[in-house]
Amino acid sequence: MNTQHENQTEPSEAAHPSATPFSNVPPEQSPVLLPPPQKQGGMPLFDALMLRHSTREYTSQPLSPQTLSNLLWAAFGVNRPGGERTAAYWRHVMVLDLYVVTADGVWIYDAPNHALAPVLKGDLRGQTGLQDFAASAPLDLVYVAHGERMTEIDPEERHLYASVDAGFIGQNVYLFCASEGLASVFRGSVDCSKLAAALQLQAQQFVTFAQTVGYAKK
Ligand SMILES: Cc1cc2nc3c(=O)[nH]c(=O)nc-3n(C[C@H](O)[C@H](O)[C@H](O)COP(=O)(O)O)c2cc1C
Repeated sequence: MNTQHENQTEPSEAAHPSATPFSNVPPEQSPVLLPPPQKQGGMPLFDALMLRHSTREYTSQPLSPQTLSNLLWAAFGVNRPGGERTAAYWRHVMVLDLYVVTADGVWIYDAPNHALAPVLKGDLRGQTGLQDFAASAPLDLVYVAHGERMTEIDPEERHLYASVDAGFIGQNVYLFCASEGLASVFRGSVDCSKLAAALQLQAQQFVTFAQTVGYAKK
């Protein structure tokens, strides 16, 4: 385990957050611009903390474009002029891509442009988890790590740090959902290699966790 966090050097230019290359995105498809995120308001933090919980029964009601935009910004959007994000991340290296999986297809959240970069067409929700609700809830987020951006640490540590990055985003998602009356559950119950194949990940990329978002069945 590397315990030298305080002594780590400043990130290189290549590791700058705004330099995220989406190597999996087919060049012929155009990105979908999200509506500008609404960054004000929401519930007081302590009220949201009181309401945060996991949900495993969802309706099929989709999220509106504005709600999806706000959710993704809260999850891992850019919150400072330098391109830094709403969640802390390992060594200032942009290790995680946030895959957005809906009934219509799969996208990667392009935070600097606040857009969705198309990856795949078709409904892959059922492949994002081993629990039935993943296939019918409107949105599954999949936190995908780029192992090739973590070459200075052991493979085991890559999984550890990428998973912590995912956990911070996951808590942002939980709190956003609590504030907005949405439901969510962070999920480790995922067949990661099968999902990696379905998402056509490259050799060094790996799935850390998934997270379902939608509206709770009453
Ligand atoms: C690392 C991690 C993995 C989890 N994996 C799953 C999962 O695969 N399926 C699931 O239904 N819940 C999963 N959860 C949610 C927990 O079961 C849940 O947070 C816990 O039971 C506490 O309930 P609460 O979130 O409602 O407070 C996971 C949570 C974490 C932090």
